[in-house]
Amino acid sequence: MKILFFANELDAKPWADALRSALGSVLPEADVCEWSEGNAPQCDYAVCWKPPAAFFAGQQNLKAIFNLGAGVDAIIHDGNVPTGVPMVRLDDAGMAAQMEEYMAWCALHFCRGFDAYAREQAEGRWTRFEPRARSEFAVGVMGLGVLGGRVATYLSRMGFPVLGWSRTQKTMDGVDCFAGDEELPDFLGGLNMLVCMLPLTETTRGILNLEHLSCLPKGAYLVNVARGDHLVEADLLTLLDSGHLAGAALDVFPVEPLPAESPLWRRPKVIVTPHISARTLMAEAMQQIVGKIRALQNGEGVAGLVDRRLGY
Ligand code: NDP
Ligand code: OXD
Repeated sequence: MKILFFANELDAKPWADALRSALGSVLPEADVCEWSEGNAPQCDYAVCWKPPAAFFAGQQNLKAIFNLGAGVDAIIHDGNVPTGVPMVRLDDAGMAAQMEEYMAWCALHFCRGFDAYAREQAEGRWTRFEPRARSEFAVGVMGLGVLGGRVATYLSRMGFPVLGWSRTQKTMDGVDCFAGDEELPDFLGGLNMLVCMLPLTETTRGILNLEHLSCLPKGAYLVNVARGDHLVEADLLTLLDSGHLAGAALDVFPVEPLPAESPLWRRPKVIVTPHISARTLMAEAMQQIVGKIRALQNGEGVAGLVDRRLGY
């Protein structure tokens, strides 16, 4: 069995070695081919992150394509990806626990006013704001999938009132669930902090816009860890300037790294992190992929299959 491997933006060699090591005694017959122009043998499986157009060229025998991340927006519209070949994304693989930590930090930071205290310190001012309990700080999670679902449950267990919004209706302990476009304004209207954990699709692109963000109560916060293209940056800046929004934490951007000239770097009410809310963990990711290759080889089903029609 041959596995074609390519990882853009990553130091590919250690990742390919981690794949070999995970294959180890599980699928000892598997051979990992690190793709380059001129080194693209016919393979049974592809494991990739943001591959170039030529990566899939001429591949006739692929049984599945594994995306080395949770979001498939970078390859789902790539016309070179063979149609009819199952596409499988990472399904948690150690990212949910990191997302829980990132969101716990954001919720505590904003709920307790640590953002405002940092600004007071910068001005050398000893100011004490009114205390606010977690029970008075409602968090809304857009996207209740593998990662968003875990975050919603985690924050609820921490004592925050949690609301969730997804495409299809859900029932979750401790989470007040909303679904579909018609319920979006009601969902947004009761939040102190909105968290975006949606996949980037043609339906969700630009969803964090003036119309929707204006539905948030005055003084609410925005956290975007999904994709930069969910957010209309100019609309966020307008709402921060008007005081409608109190602040934002942004982990993802349309262009990454965030360009030096971006105004977001220097906005006092904006926290910028470099796409680290949940890192892809090498060993966990490769173990998951190898487990799924073995399952497919045995004719079994796997989690994380992408619905190409829905785009996630
Ligand atoms: P899932 O596919 O498991 O979950 C997606 C969720 O979004 C589902 O609940 C789905 O609803 C909902 N959804 C999709 N489309 C819509 C819509 N039009 N309206 C309302 N809800 C919608 O994804 P994951 O939880 O695994 O990952 C989410 C995203 O997080 C990834 O796509 C990626 O972009 C981002 N990410 C960012 C990372 C970072 O470090 N910043 C790391 C990892 C992921 P339903 O349940 O009804 O289908
Ligand atoms: C992912 C990501 O989608 O790292 O996994 O953003």
